[in-house]
Amino acid sequence: MNQRLTKICKNFIGELNDAIGNHSAEDIFVLTDTNTEKLCLPVLKQSEKLKNCHTIVIAAGDDNKNIESAVQIWKYLSENGATRKSLMINVGGGMITDIGGFAASTFKRGIRYINVSTTLLGAVDAATGGKTGINFLGLKNEIGVFSPADEVLINVDFFRSLDAANLRSGYAEMVKHALIDTREEWNEILKFDLENPDFDKLATLVERSVRVKERVVEQDPTEKNIRKALNLGHTFGHAFESISYRQNRPVLHGYAVMWGLLCELYLSHVRLNFAKEDLLKLKYMIKEYYGTFNIDCSDYEALFELMTHDKKNDSKDINFTLLSDIGEIHINETASKEEIFECFDFFGGC
Ligand code: GLY
Repeated sequence: MNQRLTKICKNFIGELNDAIGNHSAEDIFVLTDTNTEKLCLPVLKQSEKLKNCHTIVIAAGDDNKNIESAVQIWKYLSENGATRKSLMINVGGGMITDIGGFAASTFKRGIRYINVSTTLLGAVDAATGGKTGINFLGLKNEIGVFSPADEVLINVDFFRSLDAANLRSGYAEMVKHALIDTREEWNEILKFDLENPDFDKLATLVERSVRVKERVVEQDPTEKNIRKALNLGHTFGHAFESISYRQNRPVLHGYAVMWGLLCELYLSHVRLNFAKEDLLKLKYMIKEYYGTFNIDCSDYEALFELMTHDKKNDSKDINFTLLSDIGEIHINETASKEEIFECFDFFGGC
C-alpha cells in the first residue's frame, strides 16, 4: 500500500494542515455530500489551507453512488481547471470515500486524494484499503479500482453526532476485526459500553481496529487471498441486507454484518469446531445491542439464492471466511445447502 498509515486525529485541523502540506497541491477540491456539507465542511473550513478550495457537493445516500454522480465530479474537476497536481479531499462516510476515490483515481489517470472519514463505519472500513467504486445496474460496487488514498484522517469528534444505530453499525466492523485478530482484542471489544459510549476509549479501539485492516490489506491489497478475511460475516450479512431492502424493511449495513457474523461463527462451530462459548458471547452481545432480523422458513430459499450470486464467490460454491478460533482464519471455505439452512435455524428462522 502506498497510503500513509491512517491517522486517528488528536488535533484535527493541525493534522489536516499537515496532510495537505505533504502534497504541495496547485489547487484543492473538497468533495462532500449534502449532509457532510452542512455538518462537517464548516469544521474543515477552519483550516487556512482550505480558504480558496473548490467544493463539490453531491446528493447524499448510497443510491447516489452512481455513474451520474461520478460524471458530476469529473465535470466539475474538468470545468474548474483540475490538473494532475490537484488534490481531492473526500469528506464523508463510505459512500463519499468510495465514489470520491474512484473519481480521483480515474481523472487524468489519477490525482492524489485524502479521505476524511466522518462516520464510524466508513472510518473502520471503506476509508482505508483502497477499494473505490460506484454501484452499477443495481449491483453494489460493480465498477471500481483498487487505489488507496494518499492519506486517511479520522476525527472521532465527528462520531459524537451519530445516532446510536449508526454508531452500532460501525462497531460491527470493529467486532469483525477483533475476531480475525487476537483474543485480547476480542475481550476488549466485548467490554465496550455501546449504551454510554466513551469516545476517548472509542478512539483507541478505532485505531487498533484500523491497524488490523491495514495489516491484512498490506499482505494482499487486491484480495487474492488473505484479504478475504475481511469478508467474515459478509456472506450471510449481504444476503440479510439485500433481502431487507427487497422486503421494504431496510437495515443498516453493520446490523446485517453482525447477524452474518453470528451465522458464520455458528458455521465455524459446525465445520471447524469454533468454541461454543465464544459463539454464545457474540450471541448475547447481539441480543443486547442489535436485536434480531426476523426470518422464517419461507425466506430460506431467497436468502440462499442471494448468497449464490454473491460476487465474492469464485465458482458455483458459496465462499465463506470462517474461524477455527479467534484469529485462526480459514478462507475459501464452502458449505452445503443443508448446513446453510441449519445456520438460518440457529439464527432463529424455523
Ligand atoms: N470491506 C472489506 C475490504 O475492504 O476488503
